[in-house]
Amino acid sequence: MSTIDDSQVARLVVDRKLCTPGEVELVRAEQKTLNKNGHPTGLAELLTQHGFVTHSQITRLNRALDEDSMYRPAQQIPGYQIFSKVGQGAMAVVFKAKQLSLDRMVAIKVLPRRLSENQEFVDRFYREGRAAARLNHPNIVQAFDVGEAGGYHYFVMEFIDGQTVYELLSDGTPVKEAEALRIVLQCAWALRHAHEQGLVHRDVKPKNLMLTREGVVKLADMGLAREVGDYATAAAEAGRAYGTPYYISPEQIRGDIDIDARADIYGLGATFYHMVTGKVPFDGTSPSAVMHKHLKDVLVPPDHINESLSSGVGEIIEVMMAKSPDERYPSCAELISDVEAVTSGEPPFQARKRYDRRLLETLATSGQVIQTSEENPESAKTHGKLSVQWVILLGVLLAMSILVILLLVVTR
Ligand SMILES: Nc1ncnc2c1ncn2[C@@H]1O[C@H](COP(=O)(O)OP(=O)(O)OP(=O)(O)O)[C@@H](O)[C@H]1O
Ligand SMILES: [Mg+2]
Repeated sequence: MSTIDDSQVARLVVDRKLCTPGEVELVRAEQKTLNKNGHPTGLAELLTQHGFVTHSQITRLNRALDEDSMYRPAQQIPGYQIFSKVGQGAMAVVFKAKQLSLDRMVAIKVLPRRLSENQEFVDRFYREGRAAARLNHPNIVQAFDVGEAGGYHYFVMEFIDGQTVYELLSDGTPVKEAEALRIVLQCAWALRHAHEQGLVHRDVKPKNLMLTREGVVKLADMGLAREVGDYATAAAEAGRAYGTPYYISPEQIRGDIDIDARADIYGLGATFYHMVTGKVPFDGTSPSAVMHKHLKDVLVPPDHINESLSSGVGEIIEVMMAKSPDERYPSCAELISDVEAVTSGEPPFQARKRYDRRLLETLATSGQVIQTSEENPESAKTHGKLSVQWVILLGVLLAMSILVILLLVVTR
């Protein structure tokens, strides 16, 4: 019923003159007896049972305390005036504020104590925060500052007046293909810039892609340290602290230490998939079920879900979301070239080149020779369909041979 602890309840009900100290004493004594007899009961519940407070008064107390605990650390940050809370994620609370010295709006992300007390995490938070502050790109939320006030660590960044791609997708309707391509292209520009500076995002997902009112895409949380390599704990915690890992790469799930740009390409691929199909690539009833699918399940091609998609978009997503990083685009440059090609109605040459290479490797081991899509682009419209075409061709040849033999036998 109440998420506040008993001593807070005792203090607040008296402070707000809902109960007298005597009434609280009386109920606390009863609570002790109940606890001793093996019937632990919360103070808020007992006070309600005795009619000293109502359910809605306790709900209001909960809310007030919650707001208070979030605002207090933010209000202690020197040089900033806090206006309002703009969002809350699994890791932190984000406030809209004014930086008084420069008279500009900023967003301030405040870490909870749980993370502020983890020295290893705090060190990485500062290291990466400083690295992110050195980045300067129109498609990256500009990082301004990192600091600490009253035991809370915070991150100051550019304030984005707009919405996240997560909000854009919240009604389950896919985003139009042209719009999705535009968003992916701008995010790929942002990632290319970050990767060139040696930074990997590691958490590319719809909640971290913001759209300004003018339609400019801004990648948020660039370089913000996450509790990485700890996804097994996330699974054990059933997603309480992390949210469900719908966009995470297989190598991050495995806890590989050499995470590189290709993990971000996977996350962006999963985001692209969600945008054009309206569905996450792998769903499940728990974070571990979803992660298992990222590792093992074959992706349902996005054009099987949304049949109006151009085959080029499907091909790009499949390369972005290949299980093995070696089979993905090696960097954002190749991805950008394919997104630009498909946007202007051409085939995704980079994806096809990779497909052709894989096909030739397979055929080399089986000793066959066929025409590649580069020699004849029309011959490989969609890569999954090519092997089906070969099977059909062989079937037709077989049927014709049987027919000729039958004719020979009959005419003899
Ligand atoms: N720079 C910003 N300007 C304006 N709003 C922001 C900014 N950064 C974050 N927000 C808002 O705050 C919300 C919370 O952000 P936060 O990064 O803490 O969590 P998240 O990315 O939504 O989710 P998760 O914790 O699962 O990663 C975002 O969803 C967004 O609505
Ligand atoms: Mg975020």
